[in-house]
Amino acid sequence: MTQPIGIFDSGVGGLSVAKEIRQLLPLEDILYYADSAYCPYGDKDPAIIRQRERVITEFLLQQGAKMIVVACNTASSAGLEELRELCNLPIIGMEPGVKPAIAATRNGKIGVLATSVTIAGDRFASLVKRYAENNVVINQPCPGLVELIEQGKLNDPKTREILQGFLSPMLEQGVDTVVLGCTHYPFLRPLIEEMAGPDVMVIDTGLAVAHQVTRILDEHNLAVTEGTAGRDLFFTSGSEALVAKVIRDLWLRDNIVVKSIPLHP
Ligand code: SIN
Repeated sequence: MTQPIGIFDSGVGGLSVAKEIRQLLPLEDILYYADSAYCPYGDKDPAIIRQRERVITEFLLQQGAKMIVVACNTASSAGLEELRELCNLPIIGMEPGVKPAIAATRNGKIGVLATSVTIAGDRFASLVKRYAENNVVINQPCPGLVELIEQGKLNDPKTREILQGFLSPMLEQGVDTVVLGCTHYPFLRPLIEEMAGPDVMVIDTGLAVAHQVTRILDEHNLAVTEGTAGRDLFFTSGSEALVAKVIRDLWLRDNIVVKSIPLHP
């Protein structure tokens, strides 16, 4: 294996970002860590999330990672700066797509679906302060949604019901743009688009982050430029069998390897 890109999330949500990275960078090896035993992060104490970020990053570095992608909005909100201070290699994080949403809205009303920790965080407040100007930003925490996605329930009656409950209030207030501020939610994009209708734009930053990864690898001379197709290796703190089943469905490949490495502090 060449030096891999290390990617992690509270669970399988970060695969929505890893998929974009895989598309843009077919020669790179990818290590993905799903912290399923601690999922969801979205309503945890940020100090616990930061501790998880440290142990997972340490593990990925031990495996030879040349870059870390924090493919989780909640973890990025809670601990990206600290991680950057601790590590001497490129750390890429997520932020809800408020900036592109403000550029895209026609009526000046945008909705943000995210976790409670992300919405309550300083990073999000400063994002809104920087870009919202006179636009209306309606924030909606979505407790319970991540758990359903972790179980692979992407079009289940329960998922539809809970999602409708989060979307309806912002749609009733007339938003024309909805930001997916959690990396799990792109897996519900078909459902969100169906519920919101064709006049509402849905914004997800996975592809933008994959472009940023490409740029930073080039800048640091870390990109793999020749060779065969890169390998994907998956780790989880949870159950190998359960996580493998969901990853297979979301990654759309059968021949994947998942190893359970608990990493309890
Ligand atoms: C969660 O674990 O609650 C959500 C992860 C995210 O914000 O991307």
